[in-house]
Amino acid sequence: MQLLRRPENMARINTSELAKAYIDEQIRAIREQVGDKKVLLALSGGVDSSVCAALLIKAIGKNLVCVHVNHGLLRKGEPEQVIKVFKEELGANLIYVDAVDRFLDKLAGVSDPEQKRHIIGAEFIDVFAEQARALDGIEFLGQGTIWPDILESEAGIKAHHNAGGLPDDLKFELVEPVRILFKDEVRMVGKELGLPDNMVFRQPFPGPGLGVRCPGAITRDRLEAVRESDAILREEFEKAGLAGKVWQYFTVVPDFKSTGVTDGKRTFNWPCIIRAINTTDVMEVTVEHLPAELIDHLASRITSEVPGINRVLFDYTPKPPATVEYE
Ligand code: XMP
Repeated sequence: MQLLRRPENMARINTSELAKAYIDEQIRAIREQVGDKKVLLALSGGVDSSVCAALLIKAIGKNLVCVHVNHGLLRKGEPEQVIKVFKEELGANLIYVDAVDRFLDKLAGVSDPEQKRHIIGAEFIDVFAEQARALDGIEFLGQGTIWPDILESEAGIKAHHNAGGLPDDLKFELVEPVRILFKDEVRMVGKELGLPDNMVFRQPFPGPGLGVRCPGAITRDRLEAVRESDAILREEFEKAGLAGKVWQYFTVVPDFKSTGVTDGKRTFNWPCIIRAINTTDVMEVTVEHLPAELIDHLASRITSEVPGINRVLFDYTPKPPATVEYE
């Protein structure tokens, strides 16, 4: 059976040996709970669901059915990485759902941030539920719940609902193999399981994805500008050795245009805002001051490589008064 609560005296998993011991213990616990039945898991490619999936694959192999929903708001290369790591390298039973048009059609013309979040969340559950109904013999639902999720929901800070919220005809018993772990321990276990560093040590990424970095009504061209500029920013942070050091960094492409000039011709295009922040608890954040040469280089790459961008701005605002994300 699953341990529901983290034991008071549990040692922090901070060595490879402790991670190995946890993995062995969970493999036994998962096999005992699940037997030869099937488990369904929504695999976003984020740290928690990825480590949860890797543990379940080790324990029950093809009896884990992973569903990766591409809602069109993922970062560049993410769906491809999920397929490469889980299907090709770990041999997972993975269903890839291309739901890009479904999400973007539903979001078309919607500019209210709360409504956008609601549509993304509700559509995700619809897509996942359709997949679940089409499968036979599923009795369990895997979830990458982690210990801070439990603590925060108990403290009333945030409602915890990972892949929850499924309709009543889809009530499965939960399997939560990373439930008693803190984030750093989840990463340690993921590393021990052989997941790539850029998956295990990735920066936080909001559930509504790039949707909240394309403020106002999402259009496909502006969304591509966010995705491409984010990819350039991540590449340059890797090169500069900042990737594992800065807590979160991303680009935002707001819905207004300004004049510019390229090759002697007037342009009327969007700006791209760079945000780079540090924090420990995300309640308060400070701005990471980037080297001037790096900003110059980013401005040059983003304006020349990303269609639709003619300016690059840097956000110097801490939280408070600003939030991390723009919506
Ligand atoms: P804010 O914008 O509230 O962000 O200062 C704080 C942190 O939370 C992340 N964030 C989200 N994460 N779903 C998530 O899973 C969301 O809807 C969401 N909104 C914000 C944000 O990226 C930052 O790390």
